[in-house]
Amino acid sequence: MTMDREKLRIGIIGLGIIADAHVEGAAAMSDIANVVAVCDIDEAKANVVAQRFGAAVYTDYKRLLDEADVDLVDLILPHNLHYPVALYALERGKHVLLEKPLTIDPDEGMALIEKAREMGVKFSVAENTRFVTAYTEAEKLLRAHALGDIYQVRTLIAGSEVERLKNPHPWKAKKIGSGGGVLMDAAPHTFYLLKWLFGELASLQAFHSQLVSVSEVEDNAIVIGRMTSGTTFTLQFTFTAESPWTERLEIYGTTGALIIDQIANPPAILYRGTEDFQGTPLAAVPYDPVHWKYNSILEETKDFIQTVWDGGVPKVDPADAHYGLLMIEAAYESARTGQPIAIE
Ligand SMILES: NC(=O)c1ccc[n+]([C@@H]2O[C@H](COP(=O)([O-])OP(=O)(O)OC[C@H]3O[C@@H](n4cnc5c(N)ncnc54)[C@H](O)[C@@H]3O)[C@@H](O)[C@H]2O)c1
Repeated sequence: MTMDREKLRIGIIGLGIIADAHVEGAAAMSDIANVVAVCDIDEAKANVVAQRFGAAVYTDYKRLLDEADVDLVDLILPHNLHYPVALYALERGKHVLLEKPLTIDPDEGMALIEKAREMGVKFSVAENTRFVTAYTEAEKLLRAHALGDIYQVRTLIAGSEVERLKNPHPWKAKKIGSGGGVLMDAAPHTFYLLKWLFGELASLQAFHSQLVSVSEVEDNAIVIGRMTSGTTFTLQFTFTAESPWTERLEIYGTTGALIIDQIANPPAILYRGTEDFQGTPLAAVPYDPVHWKYNSILEETKDFIQTVWDGGVPKVDPADAHYGLLMIEAAYESARTGQPIAIE
């Protein structure tokens, strides 16, 4: 009986800017799970979260994983730590939720996927895209063929990382810490979205540029290409936007178009034909320009904890995150050579 079952023991490693949404997600699952250990090299950050849950504080992730007897860990770390910390956790039989990108190097990402399989534990990438209401509503419309055949898709992720890229940040602006700029950081979301909603890519070409000269990484990028279905796409990314953080998705089909923009009100509108100036706002997608992203991260965290509890399959297959990494690698290669890349 579940009443007699012991609650899951959660460890959270990395308590920086985005960790709060994960912490709230874990807190919301207190009927089945307790946060029992937290870790950050910055002990003050760890103390704040630990006090809330009565959790043990660690500044060394290895000690947490060796000593704290946790069932699952949530890793919210600089990109270069995703591989070593996730590997250490998986080797010890922990269920792992890992922030995006899966890893910097696709081979290391695949090694994590294989290790999780070998150990028989749940492993997922915290790809909040899968939990954004506008996108789950778009998925329903697409599955119902409500836009007809899709022939073109356009996306945008626009926000500002200028302060972090300007400062001597420990990882974001440094290639060794981040693995790259806006392509490594934001494009995982978009490639996940494309594969989830539209299938695999056939080809791409990428261009990038850099406004923040003191950083080591690109902060603006465009990727164009074609899906195996024939659908063409334009993907735009900027980390220097002087506007609130937003994501856009425009889907053009033979019987309609769906335009999503998280800072527009209403944020998601379905258009049917050239005379449909009003369009139909999607009632299920609230105008919430401040919390839409935070909420999706919170939901993904809850979903993973629930999945571990139920013994189910996490919504985000890390293989799809790995696929995204291969596309990012192709985009960097294209930008470097100036050539389009055929995806095999
Ligand atoms: N899903 C999303 O929309 C989304 C949004 C923002 C960030 N992220 C991802 O979340 C991760 C973290 O991003 P962030 O913006 O919170 O970064 P951050 O730099 O604010 O936080 C990272 C934290 O890790 C800690 N840390 C560094 N080395 C450590 C170590 N060896 N052991 C323990 N802790 C260590 C740092 O002290 C810091 O508190 C990244 O992978 C990023 O791409 C995802």
